[in-house]
Amino acid sequence: MKFFVDTANLDQIREANALGILDGVTTNPSLMAKEGIKGTENILKHYVEICNIVDGPVSAEVFSTDFDGMIREANVLTALHPNIVIKVPMIKDGIKAIRYLTDKGIATNCTLVFSAGQAILAAKAGATYVSPFIGRIDDSGVDGLQLIDQIVNIYNIHGFETQVLAASIRNTLHIIRCAELGADVVTSPLSSILGLLYHPLTDLGIAKFVEDAKKMV
Ligand code: E4P
Repeated sequence: MKFFVDTANLDQIREANALGILDGVTTNPSLMAKEGIKGTENILKHYVEICNIVDGPVSAEVFSTDFDGMIREANVLTALHPNIVIKVPMIKDGIKAIRYLTDKGIATNCTLVFSAGQAILAAKAGATYVSPFIGRIDDSGVDGLQLIDQIVNIYNIHGFETQVLAASIRNTLHIIRCAELGADVVTSPLSSILGLLYHPLTDLGIAKFVEDAKKMV
């Protein structure tokens, strides 16, 4: 399972990358806005900076919601760096755009996916990645992980090559469950990735070993 970090914060991306386990990055307009990035030039510069930190796919989301606008943006974004993946929303024009970009050999990430039907459409359009938002589904009172299970199963039955990119991760357990369910990729905040490190018995064990090591010097 690949690990992507879901942030536009350069320090967090550097920290995740320094662990040596980072495979890519996803961003979205909200994450970019959170970093205070303003204006097209700065936005494009920021994507290049991310690509220069991580040697892997970097999802850059189009802001347009019409086909022509999405393709216009996609052409600009694609020219920035070979690792850019065009993130396209799950709407009618988005599906058309994914098909168009796929036919041109451009990698895509179909975002804002909340149902198996949407995931089937994304795969039919040839999306490289499909992003089911499990945390937001959980927030609505439904188990988001069930959707990961359903999509992985459907893609396996039909041999769809689209990779299941579990998104909207809220905690460390989400990552572990996604691994169990066979998600191809998990994109999560750095805090949830770092949560995988933690176990109280490890901390206790380290404290004891450090103490005993002192007895030998
Ligand atoms: C997906 O790629 C999105 O950037 C992201 O995972 C959304 O997560 P959120 O629900 O925490 O905003």
